[in-house]
Amino acid sequence: MTPPTKAVVEFDAFEPQHHADPYPSYARVREATPACPLLLGDVPVTVFTRYEECAAVLQSPDWGHGYAAGISPFREQGALIPGSFVRMDPPDHTRFRALVNKAFTPRTVAALTPLVERVVDELLDTALEQARSTGRLDVINDLAVPLALAMIGGRVLGVPEADRPVLREWELAIARGTDPDELLPPEAVVARGLAARECAGYFQRLVARRRTDPADDLLSELIRVEERGDTLTEPELVGICLLLLVAGMETSINLVGNAVLALLRHPEQQALLRARPELMASTIDEALRYDAPTQFTIRVALTDTEVAGHSFARGDGVVVVTASAGRDGAVYADPDRFDITRFHGPRPARRHLGFSLGLHFCVGAPLARVEADAAIGGLLRRVPGLALTQEVLPEYLPSLIHRGLRALPVVVDG
Ligand code: HEM
Repeated sequence: MTPPTKAVVEFDAFEPQHHADPYPSYARVREATPACPLLLGDVPVTVFTRYEECAAVLQSPDWGHGYAAGISPFREQGALIPGSFVRMDPPDHTRFRALVNKAFTPRTVAALTPLVERVVDELLDTALEQARSTGRLDVINDLAVPLALAMIGGRVLGVPEADRPVLREWELAIARGTDPDELLPPEAVVARGLAARECAGYFQRLVARRRTDPADDLLSELIRVEERGDTLTEPELVGICLLLLVAGMETSINLVGNAVLALLRHPEQQALLRARPELMASTIDEALRYDAPTQFTIRVALTDTEVAGHSFARGDGVVVVTASAGRDGAVYADPDRFDITRFHGPRPARRHLGFSLGLHFCVGAPLARVEADAAIGGLLRRVPGLALTQEVLPEYLPSLIHRGLRALPVVVDG
């Protein structure tokens, strides 16, 4: 079908109020229609905001990305990076995903727990030392960012510590550029291109170094996988590094920030988690449902198909607002309530879409959980009186796909 070009519910994704709190706009669309037509730049798409349609699209083989088939209506240049399998369909996707899965086994990730806890402890030592004079620490820049740099930058990609600060700059520019190109201002497209080129050059040199001098990191493991089976080219390996950097860093930083902000805004839930630390896993799931680091994804019909009684032709594009699905009252009781017990116990709520579903389900989910568990747990243990600073309203980074705070200053009392 050719979706009509006028949105049923008008809203401006860049309007400051929507950006600070997109959930009321999602609710309006969700209530108005199961399939909302929208013009994304000049591309007519359909937006899904209800759980059923979002989950159906993510799980259906009728939907994918369509770049290899040349049918995508989107102009995403990121999709052209070799090895960036998040925008690939089978069989290419299957091949890359299998290789990366091998290096991300639950056993590998579980073995990282002591390291993650040590890094969190060291970061909190430094941050709390500074807080003795300032009375505050910044959950994003003192804890979440350096933790992600140490884990994704250090342990996964094997980037030496001295080189890591620049990773954050590249990652921010590339992550900003993961919004659909149709929505990006030209300067963000230029900054993304520049950062991607510099970053790719860096990883090219790192891959060459790791070939002769392997280390205990996932990149060395991928190189070993490649050398055994001769299945990855050098540009593909570099592309995987870029993908892991962006997919793994921005998201895990934002999960810690968004979860801590929700706990600060709901002191009774913070008190409950302090009293019952066994609720941590459920707290992390609830944060992923309630204020998801990844707000939406896109898909393209790979064949003529149907969703929610609407028919789509091969090559039609859709936006799947997974963050809105998390607030769907048809699936979650009292969906706007932050309730850290929701995913706990014998009858947990239906699984959230924060890590997506289907073929592209987040490969780094176990690592993201370990990092969030250690960071939030460490913060609660080491900072008994944790509260929001009164004078600073949280400010969000400009990205639409990634929902993340620029900083989260908190008062450290006692
Ligand atoms: C809280 C943290 C994280 C969140 C919320 C998150 C979210 C997601 C989502 C929603 C997708 C699917 C996108 C889609 O369906 O189009 C995805 C895919 C992916 N994630 Fe994550 N992610 C997180 C952490 C990580 C980490 C730590 C890594 C790696 C170290 C990682 C690597 C990836 C990769 C490689 C993909 C592509 C998978 C594929 O296409 O098969 N993610 N992630």
